[in-house]
Amino acid sequence: MCGIVGYIGQREASPILLEGLKRLEYRGYDSAGVAVLADETLKLKKYKGRVTDLARTASSSDLTGSLGISHTRWATHGAVTEENAHPHVSHDGKISLVHNGVIENYLSVKKFLESNGVEFYSETDSEVFCNLIAYHYEKEDKNSPNRFLNSVRRSLRHLDGTYGIAAICTDCPDELFGARKGSPLIVGIGTDEYLLASDVSAIISRTSNVVYLNDGEIVSLKNGELNLLTNDEEVLTPEVQKIDWDIAESELGDYEHFMLKEIFEQSGALENAMRGRFSDDQSTAKFGGLNVSAQELRQVDRILLCACGTAWHACLVGEYLIERYARIPVEVEYASEFRYRNAPLDKNTLVLVISQSGETIDTLAALRESKRKGYKTLAINNSVGSTIARESDGGIYQHAGPEIGVASTKAFTSQLHILSMLALYLGRLRDMSFQEGVEYVEALKQAPELVTETVKLNDEILAISEKYKDMQDCLFLGRQDMFPIALEGALKLKEISYIHAEGYPAAEMKHGPIALINESCPAIVLATQPDIHAKLLSNIQEVKARGAPVIAIATKSNPLPKHLVDDQILIPDSHRAVLPVLASIPMQLLSYHIANLRGCDVDKPRNLAKSVTVE
Ligand code: AGP
Repeated sequence: MCGIVGYIGQREASPILLEGLKRLEYRGYDSAGVAVLADETLKLKKYKGRVTDLARTASSSDLTGSLGISHTRWATHGAVTEENAHPHVSHDGKISLVHNGVIENYLSVKKFLESNGVEFYSETDSEVFCNLIAYHYEKEDKNSPNRFLNSVRRSLRHLDGTYGIAAICTDCPDELFGARKGSPLIVGIGTDEYLLASDVSAIISRTSNVVYLNDGEIVSLKNGELNLLTNDEEVLTPEVQKIDWDIAESELGDYEHFMLKEIFEQSGALENAMRGRFSDDQSTAKFGGLNVSAQELRQVDRILLCACGTAWHACLVGEYLIERYARIPVEVEYASEFRYRNAPLDKNTLVLVISQSGETIDTLAALRESKRKGYKTLAINNSVGSTIARESDGGIYQHAGPEIGVASTKAFTSQLHILSMLALYLGRLRDMSFQEGVEYVEALKQAPELVTETVKLNDEILAISEKYKDMQDCLFLGRQDMFPIALEGALKLKEISYIHAEGYPAAEMKHGPIALINESCPAIVLATQPDIHAKLLSNIQEVKARGAPVIAIATKSNPLPKHLVDDQILIPDSHRAVLPVLASIPMQLLSYHIANLRGCDVDKPRNLAKSVTVE
């Protein structure tokens, strides 16, 4: 998944394009490039490296002009090289394009173009896309005022796959072009200027007025006008929306990394998740955007939770919460598996997808498959106006603010809290008593304060991290709703420190994974449920007996015996519906500090991107 920015207006384009790229770098950071058009001359600068490296070299280049495009890449087709970096330029030098997505039939199109004399310099599908536009441009009526538009439209009809593009043409110094299918693209409407970008973080510093493109839409920004139309030339009226957060929220502030900032923002994220969403007189939660009536929800006899990565771990916790408090059967599925499983679900199944970015293509595909089969679909997501938000029947915005760190933290605990609120809401529609609801609402409202108390363990957890920063393997163990937290802890550690880590139900360890246990493979045990301490203690002793260190996460009023563990982190006591949120924080801080101590790039870990919009 990549980041693209386009600019057309009254100001110098390159500083705006580079600043926008810096804010999109979490989407991909293998290489970067910028192209600016002035006096029908295209000037291009590409770099195999980070945006900051590009900005340094670009500052000495003559990138003057008020129309341009830029790109930061997460490699899909073709290695990480300067040739494969975007922007791409057509063989005749007329068309330049940046692309986020994957063109699935690019090889056949490449062969066709090569048979027409086109020579390629890169391995990418995006260069093929660019040359296909040039091919049609050459064939279009040279006097047509829509020559560029028509050449793009014709090209899109021959391409299979996904794209979010920005394109410019040397013959059209007053036109910036955008199109989307499967990869996000947003228009920013500024003062005497327009921007195109993959997401709002690249636009927010210049305007909070945006138009979200839908699949199959194309936009021409020309002579100060925004022309929105479909591929079939149907003219559309742009729906201008206002972004609900400001630029300061997407800046680092005094923190060393976005991940640490976002860990410390979790208390506020939970406040935002709850704001205006309780009905105290009915001791329940309320959501404004579900678009599903209480009566319809009473008819639901199964809920399918679907997501990827960390969001999938949130689904696993949601299964425990909803089955425990609402007594509705829940099934959890990886989005990428669900879309092909053709599950024989009952017609009264509710499908709930979870996605921080709202753009994860596997989750979007599962949502579309569910809608095709007539299931009611809801989404929990953190990106207003995202594709998943717009295509689901209803949903719940997280309002956690922008999450820049690739490793998800505040978005995850925000999802857990919203799932707790949803379990309350569903439970109170069914068998949960008023009094139980009162206690539940009170517990949820206390969560932000307990999170603030838990993040104060930061220094203590840093000290523990120093002891284990050189480990090569690690097991995370937990039971019931701590099992998904064990999975999440393992994912956090592996994705930013590159240590091999696995999460298991604690009892499962003896059915194989115990073979991994030795003195250099610590076990991190989530022991927050006193009612099963005895079982967990026997798991801990099985680990200790094989010489492995044990780090326990327990609650203040129910610590484990000190002599049985090597280190112990005690989190505040809380209602069971809040414990998974609190237990996640030591997982986040341990992985953050261990990765940082190992010199890893915590916010931009290798091979990863913030939102995966390719399958
Ligand atoms: C989490 O730390 C990872 N960055 C990744 O697993 C992420 O949760 C997953 O790609 C899903 O993203 P989404 O929530 O934006 O759909």
